[in-house]
Amino acid sequence: MADAAASSSSPALLVTLVTVFLGLLTFVLLALRSRASKPESSPAHATSPTDFATQPAKKSTNPKQRSLAAKKAHPQRHHHLEINMLKGHTDAVTGIAFSSNGRGIASACADRVIRVFKLDDISAKSFKFLRLNLPSGSNCPTKITFGHGSSQLVIATEGMSGTGLCMYSSASSEAATAAKEQGKPAQPEMKWELKNVHDKKGLVSLVSSPATFGSGNGGVILASSSEGTDIKLWTADTGKCLGTVDTNQLKNTMATLSPNGRFLAAAAFTADVKIWEVVYGKDNQVKEVPKVMQLKGHKSAVTWLDFTWDSERIITASKDGSIRIWNINVRYHMDEDPKCIKVFKIPTLDSKGNPVLYDRLAVSPDNQILAVTYGTTLQWLRTETGEILDTAENAHDENITCLVWAPQPLPTESGKSLILATASSDKRVKLWCPPPL
Ligand SMILES: *[C@@H]1O[C@H](CO)[C@@H](O)[C@H](O)[C@H]1NC(C)=O
Repeated sequence: MADAAASSSSPALLVTLVTVFLGLLTFVLLALRSRASKPESSPAHATSPTDFATQPAKKSTNPKQRSLAAKKAHPQRHHHLEINMLKGHTDAVTGIAFSSNGRGIASACADRVIRVFKLDDISAKSFKFLRLNLPSGSNCPTKITFGHGSSQLVIATEGMSGTGLCMYSSASSEAATAAKEQGKPAQPEMKWELKNVHDKKGLVSLVSSPATFGSGNGGVILASSSEGTDIKLWTADTGKCLGTVDTNQLKNTMATLSPNGRFLAAAAFTADVKIWEVVYGKDNQVKEVPKVMQLKGHKSAVTWLDFTWDSERIITASKDGSIRIWNINVRYHMDEDPKCIKVFKIPTLDSKGNPVLYDRLAVSPDNQILAVTYGTTLQWLRTETGEILDTAENAHDENITCLVWAPQPLPTESGKSLILATASSDKRVKLWCPPPL
């Protein structure tokens, strides 16, 4: 009673309290903002993992060195969704891939080393990794994907002699025993190698999917797309070529397989997207790869596309400034066309007021979030509406080269979470939590 009387009788006090509160709030917001936008004060190379390894923090003497050392020990998190970084790359990271259970992530790096990191705890200070040095004289690895399970790695290399593909798998038991006797970890062994697979042309994408639908035989198939107009399908186990399709469109931008290994779709500097089906015969072998559908509606080139995880939809981003969602679960053998079920404007504009061109796009395993990149920027959109959920400008110091979601939620310090990984020419691989929905 007394309190109520006091506050109602002194509006001046109320005004003072509100003013003080607003002042405090402004102060806190300003402090937060200045922290968030504070540029990294140490030169970019100072936080590189190699420097950290060669300059232990305890050897620093003067305060300036000490603060630099502290920064190295606790590299600043630039964005609140950035959860960790995979250290050790000494050159541009050209490709990354998650194993099917998400517990392993493999990277291809221009330093000619393949690294397979174990992600047992996403919040860990550092990650153990298996290091696979490509034989001396090898070409630069440019793409990487897992074959069967987490034991087969398929690597694309590029050089003067064209594109090569090879597959490494766990060492045979004899080799593993021999390595153990010498006290060394057993190195994966090369199981097959193919040279110049795209007739001297470079590669724009390499993906893999297990054929798990109706007539599929469960084996993992690979799709490699050249910068020309051809896309080739291979078995991960043996490297046997299963078929070649020609897009008959200008030039491939990228091609990808549906998660169930049934459909192949390509973006190719044109507005229309063609879709092929991998058809298995009675003998469990790929019988043919006919073109079965075409997505028509964009007014300009499609820059990237991805399948949803149920393999029933395709999401496309185009130079016409729109993103479209297509239902491909139609009776295409009865000439029913895939339906565009959603169109939204690309929400981000460049300095001239035009929609930015998305370099790549990846749908989260729960299909709720679209991760997109352009240059060094990473952005998260709500799949349902196209609304921006969050943006990490300068997510990397140089262009992002690869964007992949872990297929399953992974353990973090605050429970299991979906994890997104990005790789960049800035020698880094970063792990991100999705924004809350
Ligand atoms: C980086 O990405 C931007 C935007 O996609 C592109 O215009 C630019 O050419 C790229 N730079 C390099 C060095 O690849």
